[in-house]
Parts: sequence; C-alpha cells; structure tokens
Amino acid sequence: MSTTQPILQVKDISKHFGGLIAVDRVSLEVYPGEVVGLLGDNGAGKSTLIKLISGVHHPDGGQIVLDGHEVSFSSPLEARRQGIETIYQDLALCENLDAPANIFLGREPIRRFLGLLNVLNRAYMLTESRQVLDQLDIKIPNLRRPIRLMSGGQRQAVAIARAVYWNARLMIMDEPTAALGIPEQQKVLQLVRTLRERGVPVIIISHNLQDVFAVADRIIVMRRGRKAGERSIKATNDNEIVSMMVGAEQEE
Ligand SMILES: Nc1ncnc2c1ncn2[C@@H]1O[C@H](COP(=O)(O)OP(=O)(O)OP(=O)(O)O)[C@@H](O)[C@H]1O
Ligand SMILES: [Mg+2]
Repeated sequence: MSTTQPILQVKDISKHFGGLIAVDRVSLEVYPGEVVGLLGDNGAGKSTLIKLISGVHHPDGGQIVLDGHEVSFSSPLEARRQGIETIYQDLALCENLDAPANIFLGREPIRRFLGLLNVLNRAYMLTESRQVLDQLDIKIPNLRRPIRLMSGGQRQAVAIARAVYWNARLMIMDEPTAALGIPEQQKVLQLVRTLRERGVPVIIISHNLQDVFAVADRIIVMRRGRKAGERSIKATNDNEIVSMMVGAEQEE
C-alpha cells in the first residue's frame, strides 16, 4: 500500500481546549479503498480528531493533506464540498428535512420557475435520491418523511447515500452502530464494505471491537490525545488492541 498516494494525510495535528490537550501531535494516513478503525477509551480524543479533519474544529498545529494538497476547512460544509463526508456521534443530519433534502443539503439544484424565480428542484432531488438509495439497496418507504421520524439505521444509510451520490473522497463515521439494533448494525457494516468496494476509504470510530474487526483493514488506537499505535487487522487481535487502549503495552 505504501506505493499508492494516501487520500488523506494528517501530520502532527493538535487541538487544545483551554488547558486540556484533546489531540496531541497525531499523524495518520488513509489510503484508497481501505477501512480504518479508530479506537480508544472514552475521552481519548477520537471525536476531536475527526472533527479536525472534517472542519468542525480548527487545529492549533499540524497539517491536513487531501489528495496531495494541504487543506484548511472553515466549516464542515466546506470539508464536504471537498469530499469529506462525516457522520457525527453528536451532530446528525437535519432532523426536520426529508432524505432528499439531506442528500442535497448545501448543494441543492435550482430550477427557474415562470422564467423568473429560482426554486429548488424537488422532483430532481427525489428521483436522484431514490436512485442512489436503490443502488445501495437501502429501503426507505416514504422519502418525504423528515429524518427525525426515521430509525437510526435509516439515518446512517441516508448519510452514506449522500457520500456515494457526491463521490466522497473519504467517509468518516463516529460510532455509526452505537444506537442501532442488530439487523441495522449489520446493514451499516455492509454499507461500509460497499463504500470500500467503490474505492471510498472509511474511518470508523467504534467502541465495538467486533464491528471494527469485521470491517476494518487497519486499526489506529488513541490514548489520552495521542496515537498509541497502529496495526494491520491481520497482524493483531482483541487483546493487543485492548492493551494499547488502556496503556498496558509499551508506547510506540
Ligand atoms: N468542545 C469541547 N470543549 C472542551 N473540551 C472538549 C470539547 N470536545 C471534547 N473535549 C474534551 O476533549 C477530550 C477528548 O474528547 P473526545 O470527544 O474527542 O473523546 P472521544 O475519544 O471521542 O470519547 P468518546 O469515546 O467518549 O466519544 C475529552 O477530555 C473531552 O472532554
Ligand atoms: Mg467520541
């Protein structure tokens, strides 16, 4: 894998909240078509790290390089426009909008009405959304329903469909399966595999080691804001990862 160019390179990135160092000089790479599991105990800095990558927080130091170019996002929308799609643990989709509106959020198609007014092209949004959802085998019976009335799994699926529709360069998922029932968890993991098959790399944060071992190619472990280590799935096991999470192994 080292011969291909990484899609994402994070170099020595840091973030402080007052006196607290939430992310401390973390570096990582993500290559095309790989799923990277990001693990660590509560408060290890996982969510803060991905919020630095997705434009929610601005880093205090370090660099983010996307497709070989250094980037600096002023907002999550800007990160999305540059191909970084994120499903946040604590910031979901727009609850009051339906699935098509969420898929097109910030990138709505406009049509001329009576040759004068610019209006949203809802019919186009609906057809396109239905097509991408069908393509991914995602079943949402009534696409006009607001997101807030959907199940957790359906919401995740809509966010994944958005990433596929807009040809995301990178998909980031923070605890995507935490609030889901078992069939929905399986569906989301299946969609993660679909993304990988389409060449879209995924960073997935999860407390569920089983899920991570089921989908990830590589695991990065964080502990107290720092990267505690990194392993290929084939070269590690639960015990080693847990030891890295709690700090029972020697630091790298
Ligand atoms: N907006 C914020 N303001 C102040 N402190 C914050 C903020 N966000 C996170 N922190 C702190 O930064 C540290 C890392 O938090 P973060 O949410 O990144 O951890 P995490 O690894 O995602 O944990 P969890 O597994 O519980 O989601 C914690 O000590 C947290 O309290
Ligand atoms: Mg978190």
